[in-house]
Amino acid sequence: MSATCEPSEFHEACGTKDDEAKGSGRLPDNVEINPLFARPKEAKAFPKFTMPREGSLPETAYQVVHDEAMLDGNARLNLATFVGTWMDDHANRLYMEAADKNMIDKDEYPKTAEVESRCWHMLADLWHAPDPMNTIGTSTIGSSEACMLGGLALKRRWKEAREKVGLPTDKPNLVMSSAVQVCWEKFCNYFDVEPRYVPISEDHKVLDGHDLDKYVDENTIGVVAIMGVTYTGMYEPVEKISEALDRIEERTGLDVRIHVDGASGAMIAPFIQPDLAWDFRVKRVYSISTSGHKYGLVYPGLGWVIWRETADLPESLIFKVSYLGGEMPTFALNFSRPGAQVLLQYYMFLRLGFEGYRRMQQTSHDVAKYLSGEIAKMDDFTLWNDGSDIPVFAWMLKDRANRKWNLYDLQDRLRMKGWLVPAYPMPMNLTQVTVQRIVVRNGFSHDMAEAFIGDLKACVKYLDGLRSPMPSEAHVSGFHH
Ligand SMILES: Cc1ncc(COP(=O)(O)O)c(C=O)c1O
Repeated sequence: MSATCEPSEFHEACGTKDDEAKGSGRLPDNVEINPLFARPKEAKAFPKFTMPREGSLPETAYQVVHDEAMLDGNARLNLATFVGTWMDDHANRLYMEAADKNMIDKDEYPKTAEVESRCWHMLADLWHAPDPMNTIGTSTIGSSEACMLGGLALKRRWKEAREKVGLPTDKPNLVMSSAVQVCWEKFCNYFDVEPRYVPISEDHKVLDGHDLDKYVDENTIGVVAIMGVTYTGMYEPVEKISEALDRIEERTGLDVRIHVDGASGAMIAPFIQPDLAWDFRVKRVYSISTSGHKYGLVYPGLGWVIWRETADLPESLIFKVSYLGGEMPTFALNFSRPGAQVLLQYYMFLRLGFEGYRRMQQTSHDVAKYLSGEIAKMDDFTLWNDGSDIPVFAWMLKDRANRKWNLYDLQDRLRMKGWLVPAYPMPMNLTQVTVQRIVVRNGFSHDMAEAFIGDLKACVKYLDGLRSPMPSEAHVSGFHH
């Protein structure tokens, strides 16, 4: 868009400083308004970093925001994110109708509150809680909040048990894989828990119980098992981890609980790997979290966390608030948050049912397996895993002399074609290994997968044709959390 008025006019109309940026080489401080829809007497530009002095017509404000958001990437081509970006028209209608509902206001929106409770009971049933009607859970803003609540419950239970017998409680630790999602690092940082990372390696690609006794001690509040490691999509074998903890208990008497971070996998495994015991069927699993906005197939932000039994969430973490009318128990970190996503989750449960979810997840799984199979056939790549857990997989470059490019170059090349496929280093102890990862989500069809493979091959051909190496100083990992 071109400038439509003199700098002094900006000043008068919308309260911004004169456009000092002109000719200075830095970006202008104003958002210009396309003359096609700027209205007479309205500002012809909005200041970027201060609130405009005067308002504008809704059409104008809408168009400006719309045009800004248009420059975001194309979500359907984003193979980096786990988060849902598409829902059908009925869901969109419901979303609009429910946009004003505040989840915390359970007295004003008792039906939304009831729907929330129905949803987490359904999940408790799906995850084989021994008595789904005697569980406790909540929706959250996403898995991060759900994980924090799971972690807090572990910490509180550990603390209360030790206080009862007069033992010190100043050095809690949490044991988990070095490939945990950043929310667990945040949990440990925010809530003063020592993170104990069990490094993954080529031999132990996930936390699998190996060496666990070196990390677990009397100050361990719990172990996190990830169903669908963010870096690679692999499941951690919850049963094996639990057996390793059984052996530790036999030897030391320590009864260590597991929280399953099922951000993705808790909405995949029940449908397409129903025989895999990763959930409340494993006795040490006391809480499970997931993201409704990932394979729960709802727009962001929605998460869920559920405890095995009501008694497993320490009472002391539950607040009772009365100022909304009635006495409402609350145990989320946020107070206000959108209720619409919860209604959308219920809509999806009703709309798809178990069979529908199974079909959706199986389709994503098939596409992931097709993609990993095609990539495995290419000379340059070797798979880290093949997408047979959640529909997510990662690959590495094979060693080859004189190759003039790496996965970061490939990431950039693919981006030119619109595909976002992040390359990044693996976590500690494996940082020398760079992988590239694809997350297959609902809406990524076989046709798109074929088109992607065509583009991937074209990118590799281009890079192979280089006469000299790509410059390497500017390698930036793609967004991959
Ligand atoms: C294993 C795992 N845990 C937690 C999270 C955080 O989820 P959210 O983005 O819903 O907060 C993610 C996100 O990718 C994840 O993969």
